[in-house]
Amino acid sequence: MDREQAKNRITQLRDEINAHNRHYYIENSPTVSDYEFDLLLRELTELENLYPEFRSADSPTAKVGSDLETENAPFKQYPHLHPMLSLANTYSIEELREFDSRTRKSTVSRFSYNCELKFDGTGINLLYRNGILVRALTRGDGTTGDDVTRNVKTIKAIPIQLNPGSNYPDEFEIRGEIYMPFDSFNKLNYQRELDEEPLFANPRNAAAGSLKMLSPKAVSSRGLACVLYHLIAPGYEDSLHSKSLEDAASWGLPISEHSRRCTDIDQVVEYIKEWDEKRHSLPFPTDGVVVKVDQYAVQRELGFTAKTPRWAVAYKFKPEEALTKIESIDYQVGRTGAVTPVANLSPVQLSGTTVKRATLHNADQMEILDIRVGDYVYVEKGGEIIPKITRVELSRRNPESTPETFPAHCPSCGSPLVRDPEQAKFFCPNSDGCPPQIEGKFIHFASRKAMDINIGEVAVHQLVAKEYVKELQDLYSLDDLQMLSLDKWKGKSVENFRASLEKSKQVPFHRVLYALGIRNIGETTAKTLATAFKNIDALASATREQLLAVEDVGDTLVDSITNWFQEPRHRATVEALKKAGLQFAVEDKAPVSDTLKGMTIMITGNYSVSRETMKYYIEAHSGKVGSSVTSSTTYLVAGTKAGSAKLEKARKMGIPVISEEEFYKIANPERENIADDKDDLI
Ligand code: IVH
Repeated sequence: MDREQAKNRITQLRDEINAHNRHYYIENSPTVSDYEFDLLLRELTELENLYPEFRSADSPTAKVGSDLETENAPFKQYPHLHPMLSLANTYSIEELREFDSRTRKSTVSRFSYNCELKFDGTGINLLYRNGILVRALTRGDGTTGDDVTRNVKTIKAIPIQLNPGSNYPDEFEIRGEIYMPFDSFNKLNYQRELDEEPLFANPRNAAAGSLKMLSPKAVSSRGLACVLYHLIAPGYEDSLHSKSLEDAASWGLPISEHSRRCTDIDQVVEYIKEWDEKRHSLPFPTDGVVVKVDQYAVQRELGFTAKTPRWAVAYKFKPEEALTKIESIDYQVGRTGAVTPVANLSPVQLSGTTVKRATLHNADQMEILDIRVGDYVYVEKGGEIIPKITRVELSRRNPESTPETFPAHCPSCGSPLVRDPEQAKFFCPNSDGCPPQIEGKFIHFASRKAMDINIGEVAVHQLVAKEYVKELQDLYSLDDLQMLSLDKWKGKSVENFRASLEKSKQVPFHRVLYALGIRNIGETTAKTLATAFKNIDALASATREQLLAVEDVGDTLVDSITNWFQEPRHRATVEALKKAGLQFAVEDKAPVSDTLKGMTIMITGNYSVSRETMKYYIEAHSGKVGSSVTSSTTYLVAGTKAGSAKLEKARKMGIPVISEEEFYKIANPERENIADDKDDLI
């Protein structure tokens, strides 16, 4: 490679790595594995070492990946008292031993190591003053972090006040990881599947995504946990890192029980070997071991590079791989009608469990890998959860095998499949007649965020199989004999079921709308539509233009809505559910307050909430929503991308232009956050 080629490759690698960083830290949906990412970073580091003239402070080799939210900046940002760095990674014991020799050459001081698990979550920096948690910042760009204190305060493991009298320093920072235990993760994804929301790929993304939600109430329901592993406090200059963590535990802070002091690298290797096995039985995700020089004095001597400490290194566990044979391929129809190819494998041991099945994702993925029945394939646990097939061992392919073709018809009901161009997925369009989809419709309808009816999946499966229910309204006319014919259903379960049916008649309109399971109407969209149209008849008869006039409503959603209401069976369902007593209109609520009485508020631009919610909010506080800037406009609330003509006009007319934040303070001086308000209002 000549100089010019190196320069081009450096630029290309930087762009690629920056894009991966954005996917990982901001969008919480990485597109490559950590290992692949590290390979790119290594290649870039090597090239920059060979051609130092191309080094740059802006290169991803010189700065940590940033999680700072720049769009709309929903969080305040504060500087860390000390920079928050990353760790150098090693992938083999050999590389780890190199780290040890390098470190021993860099100092004459004697030192030992503290070995810790590498928790797979998202970094957090807590600031305690006089025993009180005053601030929690994400790592951000390493210098400045997003202030997520309100969210962090909802995490049970994190004390808001330290144990009184436990001798903590007056002020200190302590860093650690917010993570999502497997239990919480499985629950969350299960619910998201019912709600037709995109699933989180792994617990790390789920933890990072949850921590950045705007409503602390929502964060508290996500079951996040925390472990702290790095104290920065005065008084420890000549002490041990491991001792500082013991002290922190005595102040009431969550510290891992799985750390170990090791006198030399052989003991470190022991620890790694032990945990490479044992980690599979932990209830939370780990992706390696962190090895730290334990003596603070030696840490100081060794110092930092621009990005990582020289006194610590991460050893990353290898994603375990196994070679096995594809016995057959099933095509599973999900609740939404999506057809997913699943490989049945000759059972094989992988990361402590027996793997018999692996997802093949979709038709495109199958084609890329050229998967065939009878092939020997490598299976890996993607994000440690769902086994996936990574490649085919072509040397063992039967020369007579033929490529696999995706079925043209639904394996459950036989309808011709259609391809969703946006999702690379095939769907069965027979949503009203395909058994898994009928079951899915009931499970969704009964789910907690929808009608909250006491009935489980097994019971739904049986009711559908016995043909006791076909349409949603059938749930409201089941008789006791039918209910008691279900496995394990006794008088008490029927009673609970009936009570929850009764209660469901009070469920507000937006949740009923969501419960109907109209494609693309999630919880938020249901709220927006309910606020805009006020009742189901207005929504059902809305024209395309009227629908498109609602913020965040696009062509796909309009198609879903119109197609759904065009179906006579759906209209019959609505009428029958109305008869059963369900709410199909928004309740006229008394205003929440009079704070905006007599005021005309004009809105422009984008806010942290939808414009519909904003209008509703203004009215709930007795204000009027203006349609144009006039002399009777009280305030113009300027969101991001506010219309410049409106701003200009308001300025000329001397009408106060205020920010979204300022507006909330005027409308509701007592509440800190609209997200809380919004939940109560709608
Ligand atoms: S120490 C300067 N210890 O891994 C010291 N980090 O890949 C830096 N992590 O940014 C952190 N478990 O978010 C440390 N026991 C542990 C850790 C740990 C997980 C995370 C942390 C860090 C990332 C680097």
